[in-house]
Amino acid sequence: MRRLSSKENSQLERLREISSWVSSVLDLDQLLELIIEKATRMMRAKASSLLLLDKKTGKLYFKVATGEKGHEVRKYEINLGQGIAGYVAQKGQPLLIPDVTNDPRWYKKISESTGFETKSIACVPMMVNGDIIGVVEIIDKEDGSSIQPDDMKLLTVFAELASLAISNAQKIDQVRRENKNLREELEQQYQIVGESQALAKVISDAFKVANSKTSTMILGESGTGKELLARLIHRAGPRKQKPMVVINCAALPDTLLEAELFGHERGAFTGAVARKIGKFELADGGTIFLDEIGEMSPGMQAKLLRVLQEGVFYRVGGNVPISVDVRVISATNRDIAKEVEEGRFREDLYYRLNVVQIRMPSLRERKEDIPLLANHFLEIFKLEKGLPDLRISKKAMEKMINYEWPGNIRELRNAMERAVVMGDGREILPEDLPIFSPKKNSNSITVGLTLKEAINRFKKEFIIETLRHTRGNRTQAAKIMDIQRTYLSRMISKYNIHDI
Ligand SMILES: Nc1ncnc2c1ncn2[C@@H]1O[C@H](COP(=O)(O)OP(=O)(O)OP(=O)(O)O)[C@@H](O)[C@H]1O
Ligand SMILES: [Mg+2]
Repeated sequence: MRRLSSKENSQLERLREISSWVSSVLDLDQLLELIIEKATRMMRAKASSLLLLDKKTGKLYFKVATGEKGHEVRKYEINLGQGIAGYVAQKGQPLLIPDVTNDPRWYKKISESTGFETKSIACVPMMVNGDIIGVVEIIDKEDGSSIQPDDMKLLTVFAELASLAISNAQKIDQVRRENKNLREELEQQYQIVGESQALAKVISDAFKVANSKTSTMILGESGTGKELLARLIHRAGPRKQKPMVVINCAALPDTLLEAELFGHERGAFTGAVARKIGKFELADGGTIFLDEIGEMSPGMQAKLLRVLQEGVFYRVGGNVPISVDVRVISATNRDIAKEVEEGRFREDLYYRLNVVQIRMPSLRERKEDIPLLANHFLEIFKLEKGLPDLRISKKAMEKMINYEWPGNIRELRNAMERAVVMGDGREILPEDLPIFSPKKNSNSITVGLTLKEAINRFKKEFIIETLRHTRGNRTQAAKIMDIQRTYLSRMISKYNIHDI
């Protein structure tokens, strides 16, 4: 390999310096100026400039311009194909013109009106991912001599550096924008809608506990927004930059739940092929949301209690104590006080988790929020399904207000989604809503039955009614009635229920 001359060596040294700026200077304008100034000095040029292509207008505009007329030239815009810069931007090829007076492409207007005498010019395109984004050009040497073919190499390097700087900035900008969109989307998704007193009280309590690490238990029927409230508490407090990790305690058998909560070491049990970090560790500095805590088995309750008392835990199969700083929010739709009373939920654990208790009101208790919520969901689904003119008819709104909403807000949300899809696209009518008010009085229960018979009849009718309401969806029906799905299936065969 040829040895570099000392001039080339020092050039290289300076270029390295500039490359380091590209990754460290975050302000793009400042960076481009630095690059062009450095280019002017290193190439001993009389003037240099960087022009960017505005894709929409097809014009090049001066982003940076050095030299004594630098300020004046900035007011000019150049069409693609016009002048040397316009030519290079159009063709994507570098161009060196030793004597501009002999070149038909030379666009005199700028140098004539600024009085800047130009003899030679070199211009190189800037590209990002094969797209031309602008050009870098230099005019004459300081001593008045022409630019030489040798200078083109260096100018190309500067154009590449500038392109890299711009592409980096675009990427950063894109990430920022994406983050912002995601955040906005999340905020919209987690927005708590409602103006009722009952909800206002809940929200003000949530803000109060948000600022401390106090363990909070959220009670409330299915679909009342317990998880939404947990997210609000997390977001409103000092831990909002750290994660909120959600775990559903009802969804997993004990051994898996334990590994989910506390993690496991490699080889801790069959199938544990790698170390797994548990939810408690993932939530370090943030919040863990123990959903459906009322379903937790006595064994897991004991384990959880120990961790909360001692402040440390071990990964399954591990012997290194791990301590984390986690705030605990739990939720259940069971009557937890009764669970404690009847011995199904440990009292000591209950006191640990239930330092502050917030009860989400059911939708029946805040009927005034129904129109607000219905319109909120209408807005969401309208956009999603592309039906901008859709509205809710008065009759449909009345039907919703009079309905009991056993599945609360989740049910309202689902009902609106269905109505938006099934309706005529202009107005939501009562029949578009999948809600049926159950009959108040049941005729088949009469005097003369034993209590057991009456209860059985009632149970059968109640299950039928709920199944009708969920259009035969057993999982949903079980959830609304707060019973296990397997138990529901048993009841369905016991009472010989079919055709729903
Ligand atoms: N006040 C509210 N404003 C807007 N949307 C809400 C509100 N409350 C609940 N929702 C929506 O209703 C649905 C159910 O809420 P969420 O999951 O928080 O209820 P939950 O009480 O945790 O229910 P479950 O006990 O069944 O787990 C979600 O889609 C949630 O976004
Ligand atoms: Mg929930």
